[in-house]
Amino acid sequence: MMDEHAVDATPEDERSAYEKAADDEEVDPRCIPQTLDETPPIGDEIEYPDYPDEDHDVWRILVQRQMEQLPGRACEAYLKGQDVLQIEADRVPSLANLSRRLNDATGWEVAKVPGLIHEKNFFELLSDRIFPSTNYVRGRDEIDYTPAPDCFHDMFGHMPMLTQPDFADFYQLFGQAALNAEGADRPRLERFHWFTVEFGLIRENGENRIFGAGIVSSNDEVTHALSDEVTVHPFDPAHITEQDYDVWHLQEELFLLDSFEQLVDGFRAWATSRNLLS
Ligand SMILES: [Fe+2]
Repeated sequence: MMDEHAVDATPEDERSAYEKAADDEEVDPRCIPQTLDETPPIGDEIEYPDYPDEDHDVWRILVQRQMEQLPGRACEAYLKGQDVLQIEADRVPSLANLSRRLNDATGWEVAKVPGLIHEKNFFELLSDRIFPSTNYVRGRDEIDYTPAPDCFHDMFGHMPMLTQPDFADFYQLFGQAALNAEGADRPRLERFHWFTVEFGLIRENGENRIFGAGIVSSNDEVTHALSDEVTVHPFDPAHITEQDYDVWHLQEELFLLDSFEQLVDGFRAWATSRNLLS
């Protein structure tokens, strides 16, 4: 007779990186995804918090450091997205304002969530063109690295790309496909997300440029991702979805797009071949 734990347990190769991390007793509680009990506030429903001056100071430092590094490294679409969103450099932006500008650009909106959320909640929001964002700012002691996303990562890292139509459509498609994924397709999609949304590179005017949120919001990754310490592979969904990665260190292998159409088309073809999209 099978033991009942064996029935419930997800096989090792079907577990997400965060599920694996959650087994580690030392894991930072911010890295354990939370299930949303009710619909989070969206767009104009999101109140602007009474941030202490310290939060605005940390925000200012984060933006200033990244803006010094991004010209000549970030791709055109990301930089255009920054213009569209008009992300403030001197104070923590309001999620309601960013949501309005995003909605005008591509029909996406923003929901305020407490931190990492359960993947089902996350994919449902994406499939409705709603981006879940935190609104807390990391502490000064974590200015270089925070294990769980804060609002600098979410606003400055993710939102600019969502103002760009191809990327915006791809991300909704990703949410739709992910809702249908079971078994080993779940970590495959997670890898796809990691190597595009978080750590993607794109070829532009003969040079490699960054667009992944994990790179554009990290002071170390901006230069590291474009250095010869990284092995760069051509974009290939079959390869990406089998490529393992390490959440906790600088990335040693990255994937390079030719265009954002290639991302939409490549993802659609792969997801359709796995019966995740019809
Ligand atoms: Fe992220």
